[in-house]
Amino acid sequence: MANSRWTPESWRTKPIEQSPVYKDAAALADAERQLAGYPPLVFAGEARKLKRALGAAAAGDAFLLQGGDCAESFAEHSADNIRDFFRVFLQMSVVMTFAAASPIVKVGRVAGQFAKPRSANVETVDGVSLPSYRGDIVNDIDFTAGSREPDPRRQLDAYRQSAATLNLLRAFATGGYANLENAHRWMLGFVKDSPQSERYQGVADRITETLDFMRAIGLDPEANPELRATDFYTSHEALLLGYEQALTRLDSTSGDYYATSGHMIWIGDRTRQLGGAHVEYCRGVRNPIGLKCGPSITTDDLMRLIEALDPEREPGRLTLICRFGADKLEAALPPLLRAVKRDGRQLLWVTDPMHGNTIKASTGFKTRPTDRIAAEVRAFFGTCAAEGVYAGGVHLEMTGQNVTECTGGARAISEADLRNRYHTYCDPRLNAEQAIELAFMIAELLKAQRLAQPARPVRAAE
Ligand code: PEP
Ligand code: CO
Repeated sequence: MANSRWTPESWRTKPIEQSPVYKDAAALADAERQLAGYPPLVFAGEARKLKRALGAAAAGDAFLLQGGDCAESFAEHSADNIRDFFRVFLQMSVVMTFAAASPIVKVGRVAGQFAKPRSANVETVDGVSLPSYRGDIVNDIDFTAGSREPDPRRQLDAYRQSAATLNLLRAFATGGYANLENAHRWMLGFVKDSPQSERYQGVADRITETLDFMRAIGLDPEANPELRATDFYTSHEALLLGYEQALTRLDSTSGDYYATSGHMIWIGDRTRQLGGAHVEYCRGVRNPIGLKCGPSITTDDLMRLIEALDPEREPGRLTLICRFGADKLEAALPPLLRAVKRDGRQLLWVTDPMHGNTIKASTGFKTRPTDRIAAEVRAFFGTCAAEGVYAGGVHLEMTGQNVTECTGGARAISEADLRNRYHTYCDPRLNAEQAIELAFMIAELLKAQRLAQPARPVRAAE
């Protein structure tokens, strides 16, 4: 497979999972044709910069924080939501940078995370069966026959929403909002009176002290772009391949193809078949690629997928996002870590403690207990340490909003509380407070990992 000729459309000749059936082929072709003429959302040089940063993480010199909605939605597209999400992301990243004394590579599940794989093709309610909701880029979540019909025009709306979201994120990242001198101001109103808030204020105070110290010895924070701006990247699951193909562009600088729908794209646990369409598409674009690894992956599968996706052993090219579940990780992960090590590869290992820990609450809601999430993160760091592999990142479903979707946390959200603010379009997300609480826990784990490593100079972010 790896040797057969790749083109942006070669995936069309391969078996495909999780693909919506569009009734109106002409309307689909029209939407894809329009997208193919639109400006790229991200640029090849940015994707290469992210790849270098992920390569540093794979080498133990940085840590990846990847997170955002399970599914972005058209209805919740607002400046406030984007700002709140970005704020929490910055707070988490500051907490972790401080503890680890290592750069945090910031990658949102945002500005393109619209297509969802589903466990069943149809959903049945009170004896009525309709096509499953597959994300706002495909159909509408309302349970009516018209809403559930895949509509290709939604791809154009997803593109426009991604462009507007990215535009605001770029402004936040570089236009002063992310300036470290604002660390005190990133606190969200509803988190202010929480225990996390006090801990966070402590970190923000130390940052202020450090900046004052720098100024006192003659280093002007204003003159250092690292302190005034940050690199923030986008990512999503490359599931809807017609959309991805339409946004694939040949980079004139390198002569390589890039997905320009987002900086990093990943292959989901349900669509990672070797010889399947999703692996085929991803192997030919030069972006950083993520591969979700769930309990059903074998060592053999993994090694073949790695060979197909990263034949040149390029630093930062491939990120393995492990989502086993807190109770399965300790048995499943070691053989994979060993096989990759035996092969002499340095890949980026990341934990997704969300997707293996989803349960149905007694109240009927899909939820995730925060203690199971924390347990999987701890098990991941412990297993990596035992195998002599660097634990290089976390992949989270989270929001800046005060939702009640995951149980537990400092405010002890109960199964009965879930109904209060359950807003997700797909999987349950950590709310801002739960996300910051987890960041503090990860910060401790990062500190321990750093102390256990042989002494190395602290490398600045690029
Ligand atoms: C997701 O990340 O939302 C998802 C569907 O994950 P996975 O492919 O790991 O199940
Ligand atoms: Co999800």
